[in-house]
Amino acid sequence: MKNIVILISGSGSNMAAIVRTAEQAQWAQRLNVRVAAVISNKAEAGGLAWAQGQGIATAVLDHKGFASREDFDAALRTEIDRFAPDLLVLAGFMRILTPGFVAHYAGRLLNIHPSLLPAFPGLNTHQRAIDAGCQFAGATVHQVTADLDHGPILAQAVVPVLPGDTAKTLAARVLTQEHLIYPRAVAAFFNPQSA
Ligand code: GRF
Repeated sequence: MKNIVILISGSGSNMAAIVRTAEQAQWAQRLNVRVAAVISNKAEAGGLAWAQGQGIATAVLDHKGFASREDFDAALRTEIDRFAPDLLVLAGFMRILTPGFVAHYAGRLLNIHPSLLPAFPGLNTHQRAIDAGCQFAGATVHQVTADLDHGPILAQAVVPVLPGDTAKTLAARVLTQEHLIYPRAVAAFFNPQSA
């Protein structure tokens, strides 16, 4: 069985979308893949309890307990590798990763970013898209490289920016699309025919 490990920091709705799709689309039987663990840098991350309720192993590693980014990433790597991941999925994991960490998972590390990359890497993507007068916004699933929010694009979804949109309303519209494209991109990672 191949293992997916998912990293979260918050509500974990993308993680939940992947777990639900894995169940509904029978990834274990069809792709020989399972979500082996969900790991968070925040104990209060809402998605942790949900994942536990699904019978998935969870772990918390608080970055505040580490002196440097390198120390945290080294400990995180040890925690992740206990679950022998074939794929590491960043799903709202709000940490910048060190080049050594990214290199360790090269070719098996995905992220979702709430913009149409290469537009708007970084934070506050929805407000920046509104401020720029964009008529369309969206989300991007990409391979992670050492360069933040760059890396080969695997999937994108586009939504309109509507009159009167706030960052909140736009984020909600984008998020519904994230929940479709991320599970699809993960399945395609294991079986390109499934895309
Ligand atoms: C998503 O918008 C994702 O694109 C961004 O952070 C948000 C995480 O949401 N990186 P959730 O924790 O998956 O609900």
